[in-house]
Amino acid sequence: MNIPFSPPYIDEDVINEVNDSLRSGWITTGPKVAALEKGLQEYCKAKRVNCVNSWTSGAILMLRWLGLKQGDEVIVPCYTYCATAMAVMDAGGIPIMVDITRNLTIDVEKIKQAITPKTKAILPVDLGGVPCDYENIMQLICSKEVKEQFTPTSENQKKLGRIMLISDSAHSLGATLNNKTITELVDVCILSLHAVKNLTSAEGGAICLNMPEPFNNDELYKELRILSLNGQTKDAFTKTKAGAWRYDIIAHGMKINMPDVNAAIALAQLRKYDYLLSERKRVYERYSNLFKEYHWAIIPQQDSQAITTSYHLYPLRINPITEEQRDKLIQYLADLNIATNVHYIPMPMLTLFKNMGYKIEDYPIAYDTYTREISLPIYPQLTNQQIDYIVKNLVEGYYSITL
Ligand SMILES: Cc1ncc(COP(=O)(O)O)c(C=O)c1O
Repeated sequence: MNIPFSPPYIDEDVINEVNDSLRSGWITTGPKVAALEKGLQEYCKAKRVNCVNSWTSGAILMLRWLGLKQGDEVIVPCYTYCATAMAVMDAGGIPIMVDITRNLTIDVEKIKQAITPKTKAILPVDLGGVPCDYENIMQLICSKEVKEQFTPTSENQKKLGRIMLISDSAHSLGATLNNKTITELVDVCILSLHAVKNLTSAEGGAICLNMPEPFNNDELYKELRILSLNGQTKDAFTKTKAGAWRYDIIAHGMKINMPDVNAAIALAQLRKYDYLLSERKRVYERYSNLFKEYHWAIIPQQDSQAITTSYHLYPLRINPITEEQRDKLIQYLADLNIATNVHYIPMPMLTLFKNMGYKIEDYPIAYDTYTREISLPIYPQLTNQQIDYIVKNLVEGYYSITL
């Protein structure tokens, strides 16, 4: 049996929707992107949604819009993909990394300790699809004490009057906390539509807006759209109409719009996203039921009254195991053509961030999690037979390596 880690979900509906875009004669930003934005707006309960070409570009755009100045800080968890911190750096800020809790999301107490007058935003990550503790994070940044030390250095910061809460929801489309979507709990929620994500456009991202008053989300949508098209007042679809050639460049934007041919993939998937999510849930629960009997298998966050995850990853942890044994287990499974992964190597262990002065010793929970974590395949196409095969071999591998 050959079991890949995370193949995209491509069915006839996806192929037909892409064909429709190809045959229409219009392949870049146009009606498919507009339909995807509307669909995501409804699904995420956002005020508006701007589609862009990646999570990374969407986050840079939002942080540039916030007007980070040299020395401004953005708090991020150390346990994430490097893009979370790099987006901050690309927007001119300094990522301030803090440790996580045992459910793999950012530790609110650590955020509290990291806030300074230079903190302009917090960028928590819904790791594996588990929502962060947004209620407490929002309460913290709205508290009198934290608001008093907030020092705005741009018009948009002044208008907001507090630290901005932007979620890295690259993994968590469909997750809820106390029956609210993540968009409803933050100022801006950014999704990734990269090829391995629950919903994909091959490469892509979506900025889900929920800015509080006095911001006008319709106006903001228009502004971000212009900024994602080099600051150009007309998109190619509008400009292509006979006679509508004149345009202006009104700001220093970025070129990060999503093409229609990409949006078509996600549009077809979004129509059946409830089904896709329920199939992921099937896989997630089957793993959890099978691992329950092994004292050494620490199963990931389960759905509870408060939390529903989006079942993006199945981050199993093993205890006891050393890092070397964990690596051997990954190889043992790879030799059987079962692809697994590790989410994540904490950023302070990566050369770029080490050279910036971050030290893994400052992040004990992240380090401990990393050494014993192994992410298992999870996607709608994975059959129960394949799941049983993965678990059987993982159990055999664990005993052969550790006994
Ligand atoms: C947690 C997290 N944040 C950000 C990203 C970046 O997403 P994108 O590839 O769409 O820029 C990823 C992608 O792997 C991710 O897993």
